[in-house]
Amino acid sequence: MCGITAKISIEEHGVRRDLLRSLKRLEYRGYDSVGFATNNGVFSKSTSPMSEFISEVDEDVKSFVSISHTRWATHGGVTHVNAHPHFDSTKTVFVVHNGIIENYDEIREELERKGYDFVTETDSEVIPFFFYDEMIKNKKSFGEAAKEFIKRARGTFAIILTIKNDDKLYALKRDSPLALGILDDGFMLASDIFAFSDETNKAIFFEDDTYAEIKKNAYSFYDSNGDVQSTEITVFDWGVEEEDVQDYPHFMIKEIHEQPKTSKRLINSLETEQKKELSKIKDLIGEAKRVVFVASGTSYHASLIGVHLLNRRGVESHAVIASEFESFYLVDDKTLIIAVSQSGETMDVVTVIKKAKEEGAKIVSVVNVPYSTIQRHSDVSLEIRAGQEVCVASTKTFTNQLITLFFIAKLFSYKEDLSLIPDKIKKTLEDNEDKVKVYAKKLYKKKDVFVLGKGATYPIAREIALKLKEIPYVHAEGMMAGELKHGTIALVEKDTPIICLIPKNNPSMLSSAKEVEARGAEVIVISNDKSNKEVDFLVPESDDAQFSIYSTMIGHLLSYYIGVLRGVSIDKPRNLAKSVTVH
Ligand code: M6R
Repeated sequence: MCGITAKISIEEHGVRRDLLRSLKRLEYRGYDSVGFATNNGVFSKSTSPMSEFISEVDEDVKSFVSISHTRWATHGGVTHVNAHPHFDSTKTVFVVHNGIIENYDEIREELERKGYDFVTETDSEVIPFFFYDEMIKNKKSFGEAAKEFIKRARGTFAIILTIKNDDKLYALKRDSPLALGILDDGFMLASDIFAFSDETNKAIFFEDDTYAEIKKNAYSFYDSNGDVQSTEITVFDWGVEEEDVQDYPHFMIKEIHEQPKTSKRLINSLETEQKKELSKIKDLIGEAKRVVFVASGTSYHASLIGVHLLNRRGVESHAVIASEFESFYLVDDKTLIIAVSQSGETMDVVTVIKKAKEEGAKIVSVVNVPYSTIQRHSDVSLEIRAGQEVCVASTKTFTNQLITLFFIAKLFSYKEDLSLIPDKIKKTLEDNEDKVKVYAKKLYKKKDVFVLGKGATYPIAREIALKLKEIPYVHAEGMMAGELKHGTIALVEKDTPIICLIPKNNPSMLSSAKEVEARGAEVIVISNDKSNKEVDFLVPESDDAQFSIYSTMIGHLLSYYIGVLRGVSIDKPRNLAKSVTVH
């Protein structure tokens, strides 16, 4: 949520060519508004789409120091004035911020009493005024001001400051991610490494409650006492996919089509270089009393499959939605947490693992983005190696999360052959994509869709429903088929579309489909059973667990093509962001 980037360089850099090009790579973090500022006093911001904004920035805007921001609004509406960068009334201190300053009203009141005039509805605006008051008015150093801010501010922040006519970049962070990229011609600060992974593979990750001063050719990091912090340069490996949309109309469909390749890459890596991690996970599960998966959204749906697989093999497991963890779960030093997260930055998950660590729990993670906060807080981490996923909706990363969980289940006698998955994914696409387009035409005007599953397909019912909401904005409910009769069936009318996930040998799901059909529903069957005469989408043969991959793909394709027919913003659905770094 919100992406920030900043550049400091030996030679002047172009704001449009260098700074905003890297900001564009973080657009998936939020796209409510965009803006930049330089240390020579040039700034601009807008609520227009980022591409439009960038195309209007003059190529001649150059600077040694520049900062930029793409916003996912939390405090204050999506307006020009609320867009970042924020600045003090004299336009001396410019700030971009990702996170939430929880006690902003109290800091703001104090600054207002000192005579400062605020103009936005945001929490972030206290930052430029705070630093203006400390550094410009009271002539304190950045270090003194930063220490004071870290002491005073409650909440989360990755903050970058540029000060007019000052040739340094200043940064501080707590809980929101921030990394320093080491470039040939200077440095780049950013919310995540993808901002600069096309330019460098060297980065330093900020610790919580630290601050840094970056010069053109040097940097210094400090802890909250002002003591110099030693830093480690990480050499990372990331950005393996073709980064533009290529011949596809949207990233979502490109990413769906990447799955034969991305699943194969993951399987290879789990069989070779990540094998060691898998065996550590086996030991950790063996030592634990219970396994608790923690995740949000699509990653939670993958986690439910993990629970299904492990419980069936005698390993007590649970899955808890991260944002509700505290209310519904207790952790002790016999608990093993498995955090599943594409971004590795979801704040609700980060909060759970930090607290669980304090209770003595061990942390395993399954992430896509290497060096993400969740990976860095884990005892053992598996990478799902799906490559950058640009579309806000998770597709290829969901498939790879499932494959990773199958590999974990294999440690406990899950016997199915996983090497056939990439080919079966390919076949699912080849056999069904045209048909999905036909069904999308039938469905795209429907207001409500229900998706029913049971056992391993219950999480898939929820996943398909989530995608139908997220992409084409169709109200959808994904549920346990068995629960239908306990209330929801009252909503079934003539022609209500109900997608039924019916793997082979599942008489109970067949009955559920019949029950809703008898009430006039338009039943759409996804199955791997050739002998089922009523199948609408036939996917390759497999066990129930792997059926979850192929049936999800039909649901993802359906959401995509319905979205296309509805003319919505496929890759950047309204109100969403790919990386949810606030509570
Ligand atoms: O990065 P994470 O996997 O932790 O993200 C969790 C959810 O925000 C995410 O899966 C979300 O539900 C997707 N947009 C769904 O497509």
